[in-house]
Amino acid sequence: MKYIDLQQSRDARDIEIIIKKFKAGTLQDGDPVSVKGAIHHIKNMGEFAFVNVRSPRRVFQCVWEAGKSSFDIHDIQPEDWVLLDGRIVADARSPLGFDIRMETITKVGGAVGSLPLEISNDRKIKNLQLDTMLNNRVVALRNPRIRAIMRVADGVMYGFRSFLREEGFVEFVPPKLVMGGAEGGADMFMVKYFDQRAYLNQSPQQYKQAMVGVFEKVFTVGPVFRGENSNTPRHAAEFWMIEPEIAFADLADEMDLSEAMVKSVIAYVLETCPDEMAFFNQFFDKTLLERLNALINSDFARVSYTEAVEILSKHNDSFQYKVEWGTDLQTEHERFLTEQIYKKPVFVTDYPKAIKSFYMRVNGDGKTVAAADMLVPGVGELCGGSQREERLDVLTARMDELGLSRADYEWYLELRRFGTVEHAGFGLGFERLIMYLTGIPNIRDVLPFPRTAGGF
Ligand code: 4AD
Ligand code: MG
Repeated sequence: MKYIDLQQSRDARDIEIIIKKFKAGTLQDGDPVSVKGAIHHIKNMGEFAFVNVRSPRRVFQCVWEAGKSSFDIHDIQPEDWVLLDGRIVADARSPLGFDIRMETITKVGGAVGSLPLEISNDRKIKNLQLDTMLNNRVVALRNPRIRAIMRVADGVMYGFRSFLREEGFVEFVPPKLVMGGAEGGADMFMVKYFDQRAYLNQSPQQYKQAMVGVFEKVFTVGPVFRGENSNTPRHAAEFWMIEPEIAFADLADEMDLSEAMVKSVIAYVLETCPDEMAFFNQFFDKTLLERLNALINSDFARVSYTEAVEILSKHNDSFQYKVEWGTDLQTEHERFLTEQIYKKPVFVTDYPKAIKSFYMRVNGDGKTVAAADMLVPGVGELCGGSQREERLDVLTARMDELGLSRADYEWYLELRRFGTVEHAGFGLGFERLIMYLTGIPNIRDVLPFPRTAGGF
């Protein structure tokens, strides 16, 4: 193999290995090194030039020097992909403690013509219209800010999976093509399925409830589709949902589980993406790290819907949508609770049954359901969870009330007919967690290839 030698070093030409060796003292000033990457930025000073090279994890500094480098600085341009050979130049002012003086360079794949965006300039990228960023996505994705977001996304993915595995959860894969809606059926994308009509699923909810009967603790993560015409900064038409479900559990267990999972993911991301998190702290929200670190060791607030409505209705003057018992909470209300009242994540519990899904367990009062939404500052709703209605008669009565066809949900009813157990679970919006962790305010910015009501 040309670039990767799995047998020997696994990481031929990897800057990370060079950094480790430099720290360990096995590579020193003047030693030869070989590295690969993409030219990120060139600052030409005449007799010498600073050439920033991008690797998967970072941008590092190389130096071109007339007479010492064997190529012309004008022969390279940003986005050329290169193999370069040079020498370590120890320099305490450099973030890594050294630069690499370039001697020879091999262009593997050169950029042709000028780039549609100057991706190395973060200030310019920050001020660019989102549309410009989306229309030039292939290049824009290479910008350090978007790369940092994608790293955090990767950290979230590993973080929650390792947490759930450690807790004994089994992962499974549900279908995306379905005949009916998990959340009641509104706003679904229709597709042709042979000579029938099918839909793209809104949530794997019912499938994971079936799997709970197999393994007791299960989870799935994958794309879900919602055609809500909500062109807001926190709604996507295709997004990922992390969905755990647990048997022998009530609503309090569900909240404990989601709170522990979110804290564990935060801790994991802080530990594994320190450079990226420092970047967001510096450029977007200077208190981000302090707040996230504090959160790991404190409890989220818990308040009933009825109490939340009492608190919020006192501030109705400042809301576009007035709050009264029975209305669904809007983002402005959710953010008010988390940002003005509690100043941390909040669970709102026991919503009126009329504004929640048919499968949620009806409480003793007959008016509310055992549901809990986790709301977080800056974003609003992050998780929707509930204890599920396990009483067949209550469930069918509720479906009748809502006009849901029993035939369409026959297999779901079987779940309760043939042996069942109290269980609960939640769905967490993957992209919204990334928004929360990075301080990035628009969901289109945290998706590599977003699909929203605003278009592709
Ligand atoms: O609250 P939701 O609709 O809950 C469910 O789908 C349940 N089946 C979950 C469960 O109990 N198993 O969606 C869950 C989460 C929301 O809290 C929100 O974070 C996210 O998914 N979400 C969206 N994220 C981006 N764009 C959208 N259009 C979203 N709709 C929901
Ligand atoms: Mg919800």
